[in-house]
Amino acid sequence: MIGAVSRRVLITGGNAGLGLALAKKLARHHKLLLSGRKPESEVAGILPRDAGYILADQSSPQQSAEALVRGVHDFGWDSLDNAVLNAGIGIVPDDGLDSTEAIRRTLDVNLLAAMLQAKALFPLLEKSRGTLTFIGSVAHSGSTTIPAYAASKAGLHGLGRALRSEWKGKVPVQVLHPGPAKTEMHDKAGYDPGHMRALFLEANDVAAMMAAAIAARRSPVTLSWARYLCGGAFLGRRL
Ligand SMILES: NC(=O)c1ccc[n+]([C@@H]2O[C@H](COP(=O)([O-])OP(=O)(O)OC[C@H]3O[C@@H](n4cnc5c(N)ncnc54)[C@H](OP(=O)(O)O)[C@@H]3O)[C@@H](O)[C@H]2O)c1
Repeated sequence: MIGAVSRRVLITGGNAGLGLALAKKLARHHKLLLSGRKPESEVAGILPRDAGYILADQSSPQQSAEALVRGVHDFGWDSLDNAVLNAGIGIVPDDGLDSTEAIRRTLDVNLLAAMLQAKALFPLLEKSRGTLTFIGSVAHSGSTTIPAYAASKAGLHGLGRALRSEWKGKVPVQVLHPGPAKTEMHDKAGYDPGHMRALFLEANDVAAMMAAAIAARRSPVTLSWARYLCGGAFLGRRL
C-alpha cells in the first residue's frame, strides 16, 4: 500500500505553481527534495518545512541532471521512491511562429532536461523500485497558440510511453497531462487567457489529482475538468 510509509520524493519545479502545490500536499507524510531555477534564498520562505532544495537550471539540460543527482546524494539519500519531473515553461510567439531561440529554450527546459534527468535518476529509482512521473499537458495533442510547447509535451508523451515499456519490471513510468490551471505559468509565457481563466482549475485541485494518479501508477492520465467532476481530486488512493 503506497500511502502507508514515508517516501523520498523529488519534484522538479517544486518552488512554484503545481509543483509547490503537490509538495505542500505531500509534506505531511513524505520527505521532499524540490528543485528550481531560482536560488534557495529567494524561495526558502515558501517551501514546506524540512524540504530540501536543489538549484538546477534546466536551460542547461545536462548540468541540471547532474545537479539533481548530486543534490540527492548531498541530502543523504541513496535512492528515490518518486521523481516527479514537473518543471516547465511556455513561450507564446507574437506572430504564431516561435523564434529559433524560443523553440530551443522550450525544448531544452521541457523535454531534453527531462530526458537526461530521467536517465540520470534511473539508478536511484531502480534501487527502491520508485516511480518516475513526467508532467505533460493536454497541449501534447496540439495547441494553436504555443506550438513549441505543444511539441515539447508531445515529446514527453512519447518518451513516457517508450520508457514505460523499456523499464518495465524495474521502474514504473507514467505521464500525466494537466488541463489549464491557475498558476503563474500563463503570465510568464506572455499569454493572457482573459475571462477563460475563470474556467481554469485551482492548482490545489490539480495537485490532488496528480497525487492520486501518481499513487495509481497508471499512464497516460489526463487531469482536466472531466476527471475533477468525477471526483478525481477527492477519490482514489493517495501517495
Ligand atoms: N498551469 C497550467 O495550466 C498547466 C497546464 C498543463 C500543464 N502544465 C505543466 O505543469 C508544469 C508546472 O507548471 P506550472 O503551471 O506550475 O508553472 P509555474 O507556476 O510557472 O512553475 C514552473 C516551475 O518550473 C520551474 N522552471 C521554469 N523554468 C525552469 C528552468 N529553466 N530550470 C528549472 N526550473 C524551471 C520554475 O522554477 P523557477 O520559479 O525557479 O523559475 C517553477 O518551479 C509544467 O510542466 C507545465 O507545462 C501546466
